[in-house]
Amino acid sequence: MNRLIALTITASLCIAAKAADRDLPVYRDASRPLEERVEDALSRMTVQEKINIIHAQSKFSSRGVPRLGIPDLWCTDGPHGIRPEVLWDQWEQAAWSNDSCVAFPALTCLAATWNPDMSRLYGTSIGQEARYRGKDVLLGPGVNIYRTPLNGRNFEYMGEDPYLASRMVVPYIQGVQQNGVAVSVKHYALNNNEVNRHTTNVIVDDRTLHEIYLPAFKAAVKDGGAWTIMGSYNLYKDQHGCHNSYLLNDILKKEWGFDGAVVSDWGGVHDTDQAITNGLDLEFGTWTDGLHAGASNAYDNYFLAKPYLDRISKGQAGTDELDDKARRVLRLIFRTAMDYTKGEGEMCSEAHYDAARRIGDEGIVLLRNKKRVLPLRLDGPKKKILVVGENAIKMMTVGGGSSSLKVQREVSPLDGIRVAAGNTADVLYARGYVGDVTGEYNGVTTGQDLTDNRTPDELIAEAVALAAGADYVIFVGGLNKSAGQDCEDSDRRELGLPYGQDAVIEALARANRNLVVVNVSGNAVAMPWVDKVPAVIQAWFLGSEAGNSIADVLFGKVNPSGRLPMTFPVALADNSAHAAGAYPGLKRADSNIVDLEYKEGILVGYRWHDTRKIKPLFAFGHGLSYTDFTYGKVTADRREMTVADTITFTVPVTNSGAVAGAEVVQLYISDPKCSVSRPAKELKGFAKVFLQPGETRNVSISVGKDALCYFDADRHDWVAEPGEFIASVGAASDNIKSTFRFNLR
Ligand code: BGC
Repeated sequence: MNRLIALTITASLCIAAKAADRDLPVYRDASRPLEERVEDALSRMTVQEKINIIHAQSKFSSRGVPRLGIPDLWCTDGPHGIRPEVLWDQWEQAAWSNDSCVAFPALTCLAATWNPDMSRLYGTSIGQEARYRGKDVLLGPGVNIYRTPLNGRNFEYMGEDPYLASRMVVPYIQGVQQNGVAVSVKHYALNNNEVNRHTTNVIVDDRTLHEIYLPAFKAAVKDGGAWTIMGSYNLYKDQHGCHNSYLLNDILKKEWGFDGAVVSDWGGVHDTDQAITNGLDLEFGTWTDGLHAGASNAYDNYFLAKPYLDRISKGQAGTDELDDKARRVLRLIFRTAMDYTKGEGEMCSEAHYDAARRIGDEGIVLLRNKKRVLPLRLDGPKKKILVVGENAIKMMTVGGGSSSLKVQREVSPLDGIRVAAGNTADVLYARGYVGDVTGEYNGVTTGQDLTDNRTPDELIAEAVALAAGADYVIFVGGLNKSAGQDCEDSDRRELGLPYGQDAVIEALARANRNLVVVNVSGNAVAMPWVDKVPAVIQAWFLGSEAGNSIADVLFGKVNPSGRLPMTFPVALADNSAHAAGAYPGLKRADSNIVDLEYKEGILVGYRWHDTRKIKPLFAFGHGLSYTDFTYGKVTADRREMTVADTITFTVPVTNSGAVAGAEVVQLYISDPKCSVSRPAKELKGFAKVFLQPGETRNVSISVGKDALCYFDADRHDWVAEPGEFIASVGAASDNIKSTFRFNLR
């Protein structure tokens, strides 16, 4: 083509485009303020169209406004990887061949990194996977507080401490949302166990609610800027979490100024009138309980569909609430599906595997390492390593409920150990015990045949015989993702390990002095054998790179730096909820509602152990390293402060060992004299520092008034009482190195 003609055509196209720009309706013009666009779109919509966008049209999508070119909204679980596609109206996977994902470590592991940078990396990576798959809302992360080690879903949450969960959730949210994908922070609120999850009515005092169970959600909204929040299944004040006026209207929307959309949990809506008035915006999964099938193609009959429209046409309901819901959903669509500047995302990239491995590496917790059995030394003559246990070979990314995944690859612990050992060792394997040999979720199968019909005695005898001749024995056990373990919709029944694993571990400990137990779980487990086993590692559910991360730590490629985000009690009765007899609640005589009173109040996790001086098996914040850290004395920049000030504590920390490593310096605050009873101490700051051998760093942590407050229920406000406070700086809640006393005037 002649160059002049080409230029002329280009110029006319530009003029045409400019003209088209001028005609762009306000709601489509991304350069206009979001609120103007929302109001413009709303003003063009019919009542029916508004109704259409506030409830599902399929298992995981809701409708847009086709007439206006406003697209549908697509959701996905969450929170550890992007769920495989399901059929339009069923839970069953759609059997696509291009929807395999990277499984990132479970959120307990992320919390155990105590490293907000890992959280950002996690969010950014999973957000890119969601983006690539065309998803607008990622159903996660979860921040329900770890109240009892029996809760089947603890693995999807961030531990027992509101401050730690708050710090860790914010960068995850920002990382995801920078991809034009919304998070849905769940399950708001008080969904702290799975048994009776649809019928439990939680009774908790206001102070406990605000000090323990709400802060991570508040941080998600106010600091993270979460675009959606998912309501919970349970009840509080006799109203379900998905239409709970106090939690959604009063706290979330009015007090915290949340401008996003409240999404129901799947099957969490029960009543049209409450759904209209009590703060719900977007209804999903009605007539299912989130896991099981419901009425098919019932979308027009959703509580916020025809029944709502009927009430409006009969004048029984106004349209103010409808406009508010539609506004919030439009805001969500503009931020996600209609953000045309967002990138393409990427899926199953090496960068994502690398992120999964780094997070796993940093989250693994070295619980015990007597005689420095770890890291395993492979120098000298060729070694013999025996690996025992079902969890060394079982895929853990399938199962557990809605977080179940279809992965492109998953490295088992046994494979990870084999690859890392290379030809420096012969790696043998013995099953040791048979747990659950199944491996299927919604049509996704592991493809593993784990059948083994030998008796427990035969399995132990085989393992013991091999252990006697091995240089090292690595037992890989723990829980799995089957019902009654770390799994949605049911709780564990006991703190102990299932499938007779204690007997296997005891027998191995007798057979070989160099025994390492790798516990794969999202929950604390009892360890009656702990004194007989030199090394114990808490490995969580680590996703695609599980085996590589475990091997990295076992062989010392990575120096462990994870710290427990929850207490491991010796016995169940040592946990405050169980000590108080406050689980799983009492069924009412006249209905199926189960009242569950959180009688332990604010004394959750280490707050209880510390205050009541109950020695845990492993404390909150605990985790060892292959190097040693020595602490100097903590100092501060002031001894007196007012509520307007901040105070900065500084402590010199030295890596006094031979290898590089990271220490998590933890700051706890106590208020020894207060008009209300307070926990012995509470986490109010932490910093993870990486130190070369011999290196010293001054680690500084600043806090303001917020770190000194309790929640005064009568005033409905946070109060810091003047007087003396104590800052305790240390390496774990039970390992305080030095303290500093200061005054609030
Ligand atoms: C779970 C949610 C999940 C939803 C959709 C429910 O069973 O409680 O966490 O996001 O299903 O799968």
